[in-house]
Amino acid sequence: DQKLRDLLISRITDVPDYPKPGVMFKDITPLLADAGAFTALTDALAALCERYRADKVVGLEARGFILAAPVAVRAGVGFVPVRKAGKLPGATLSQAYELEYGTAEIEIHAEALGVGERVLVIDDVLATGGTAEASLKLIRRAGAQVAGVAVLMELGFLNGRERLESVLDGAPLDALIQV
Ligand code: PRP
Ligand code: MG
Repeated sequence: DQKLRDLLISRITDVPDYPKPGVMFKDITPLLADAGAFTALTDALAALCERYRADKVVGLEARGFILAAPVAVRAGVGFVPVRKAGKLPGATLSQAYELEYGTAEIEIHAEALGVGERVLVIDDVLATGGTAEASLKLIRRAGAQVAGVAVLMELGFLNGRERLESVLDGAPLDALIQV
């Protein structure tokens, strides 16, 4: 609702020219430091977890971890990390994706998700959608089902929603606030 959106927006700081000139960085650390705002955010994401009947929450390293872990606890479901390449000790599935310059790679433990399990993916920001797209491919390759994707903030001008449309395959994409 509007009250929640206003609270969240009021705790996100615009940092101009970070990490490079021309980029407006959205800093969520003031939101995380505010117990009331962080709790309201966690409750809103946990409600989506219940609405979409998710069996697991997947958080995307690194900022997605901070949001997703308390949601998993609040919703009473397990947490599974998608990590940047080379950080998981077990057998992994890897997925490359495009960055503005070059490529990156993320991984999930191959056995982390059960066949047919319903997964809610959580991250802080949907920008170009590259990170989320790669994570959805990993979840499908791991044999699980995408129950939905939920982000705190969607940067609409980067068209991530359009990019995700085909890989979402009908699953919902929720952004608590649009920028
Ligand atoms: C940022 C952000 C999202 C992603 C969004 O993560 O936290 O995960 O970019 O961008 P995209 O939609 O264009 O893929 P980043 O990889 O910068 O690192 P961090 O979360 O580890 O800080
Ligand atoms: Mg990130």
